[in-house]
Order: sequence, then C-alpha cells, then structure tokens
Amino acid sequence: MDGAGETQAKAPQDRLADWLAEDMVAVNTLIRERMASEHAPRIPEVTAHLVEAGGKRLRPMLTLAAARLLGYAGTDHQKLAATVEFIHTATLLHDDVVDESQRRRGRPTANLLWDNKSSVLVGDYLFARSFQLMVETGSLRVLDILANASATIAEGEVLQLTAAQDLATDEGIYLKVVRGKTAALFSAATESGGVIAGGNEAQVRALFDYGDALGIAFQIVDDILDYGGQDAVIGKNTGDDFRERKLTLPVIKAVAKATAEERAFWVRTIEKGDQRDGDLAEAMAILARHGAIAEARAEALAWADRARQALAMLPDQALRGMLSDLADYVVARVA
Ligand code: IPE
Ligand code: IPE
Ligand code: MG
Ligand code: MG
Repeated sequence: MDGAGETQAKAPQDRLADWLAEDMVAVNTLIRERMASEHAPRIPEVTAHLVEAGGKRLRPMLTLAAARLLGYAGTDHQKLAATVEFIHTATLLHDDVVDESQRRRGRPTANLLWDNKSSVLVGDYLFARSFQLMVETGSLRVLDILANASATIAEGEVLQLTAAQDLATDEGIYLKVVRGKTAALFSAATESGGVIAGGNEAQVRALFDYGDALGIAFQIVDDILDYGGQDAVIGKNTGDDFRERKLTLPVIKAVAKATAEERAFWVRTIEKGDQRDGDLAEAMAILARHGAIAEARAEALAWADRARQALAMLPDQALRGMLSDLADYVVARVA
C-alpha cells in the first residue's frame, strides 16, 4: 500500500478541501450564480474562462476553515468565502493587464484572449459583485475588514509599480508591497471568518496574524517560483517579474551582494530595461551564485513559522492541524 488514498498521506490543501467539501460546493455555486450578468455576455465569458480553470481556492478555504475552527454553524461564511474569491479573481484580471502576463492557471490570460479593456472592466464588475455579496452578511465589521483589504491590495500594487525598476528598493519596501498586494487578502480571509463565527478579540487577532504571515510566505515563494519554477506546473510563465523589472526578494538580496560587473548587469536590465536574449538565464545564475533563492526561501520559512505560532491559542482541533500543515505546504509548494 502506498497510502496515497489515505487521509494522512494527502497534501494539507487537499485535506482541507476534503474537510470543507460541502462548504466549498456551496461557495462554488455562489460564485457561478453571481458571476452571471443579464446584460453583458462578455462578463460570464471572461469570468468563466478564469474560474473554470480552477485555481487553488486557498483564500475561500481559509475563510471557511477559520469560521469552522471557531465552531460556526451558519452559512454566512460561505458568502464571505465567495466574496474573497471574487476579490481575488478581480485582482488577477487587473494584475495580468498590469504585468502584461500571457498565462494564468494554465490558460492564456483574459487580456490575451480578449483585451485589456475587457479584463479591467470585468475585474471592476467582480469587485462590485463581491461587495454585494458581503453586504448580505449584514456584518459591518466584516464589511470594514474586506473593504480595507481591497484598498490595501490596490495600494500594494501601486507601491510595487513605483518600486519596480529602482535598484534602491530594499527589503522593507518589498515587505510593504507583499503585505499589501497579497497578505492583506489572506489575513482578511481568516479574520473575517473568525468575526462571522463570533470569535473573541484574541482569536480574531490570531487568525489575522496567521493569514498575514501565511500570505507573506506565499508571495515570497511565488517570487522564487518566477525564477526557478516550471511553467507547466505553476500554470504561469516564469520570468515575468524579470521582464517587468520587479525588485523581488531574491533580486534585492543579489543586488545587495553584487560585484561591480553584476551591478552593471542589474542597472542595464532592471533600471534601464535593456534586456537581451540570455539575460534571464544570467540573472538566475547570479541569484544562484549568491544563494539568493535559498535566503529568500529561509525567510519564507520564518514567516510560515510565525503563521504556525499564531495558531497556538486557537481551539486544538483537526482543522487547526491542517492550517498548521498548510504553512509548510506554502513554503514547499511548486504550483
Ligand atoms: C496568485 O495567487 C496571485 C498571488 C498572490 C501570487 P494563487 O497562486 O493563489 O492563484 P490561484 O487562485 O491558485 O490561481
Ligand atoms: C499577485 O501579484 C498579487 C495580486 C494579484 C494582487 P503577482 O503579479 O506577483 O502574482 P502573479 O505571479 O501574477 O500570480
Ligand atoms: Mg502578476
Ligand atoms: Mg503583479
């Protein structure tokens, strides 16, 4: 027996998906219902293209898990989970326009298949739909959390825009960017799940801290995969960050240790944007030479540890174990 069919042998995100299967069916139904539009067929076309490609559905699972962990027995957490996935989908549509990306979830991006205008406008529509959904929960506190997260995500993306192409961008700025563009939605997902479940302040705070640290670890690994991952596995094209001249953590670490010759390479490719054939491979060689990928991975691991520690004061249940294991998965993931 190889044990592949046994629960314990499954990856943490799959065990979470099994545990939350009934909830996720309801969430996926909500998503399908609410992505509809009576008047503009382009909306369900674009949305279905992205939604039906799947995606890991990590963020809605976090909301569901947080609520269930605190014993929630209602159904509003499903609306919140769908809200969170709608916000995520909207940001992906916008992000692929901004990053001029051509692949997402193993498919050509919507901006490539249709155009930038469709991606921006359908993204706006999904944002608005997400707000309608969360209003239905009737919880002002939850509205506050998710509205703030939406603003923070946009802020992170804009900060990244101005930090790109600038070799002076340091780890402090990088942390602000990833906390905004990525971790804000992870922490809002877990925090809002705790709030809807009526958790106490300490529990809600712990759930926020878990999501925040998990999201940071997740994005650091995403940035590592952009240099070393396999396109077919991540479902996106590697090298996008280099082409977009982004100062992600591995590059920031390598720039800090650069020889004069290496610095000239970064100035040409990142600051001036003069990129030639073979430059991506050269960038990867420089990162390897300075152990920049390994150092970035060590930081992701440290954030995953923080995420795990935040769980300590939450109820000791199977779900808590899965959330703890999810922190390991986020660092070890290849997709
Ligand atoms: C992609 O997120 C955007 C980032 C924050 C890196 P995911 O990797 O969770 O995307 P899907 O939903 O699984 O496609
Ligand atoms: C992800 O940004 C964050 C948002 C979508 C807001 P990235 O640009 O780093 O993520 P990928 O690599 O396109 O998924
Ligand atoms: Mg992108
Ligand atoms: Mg981006």
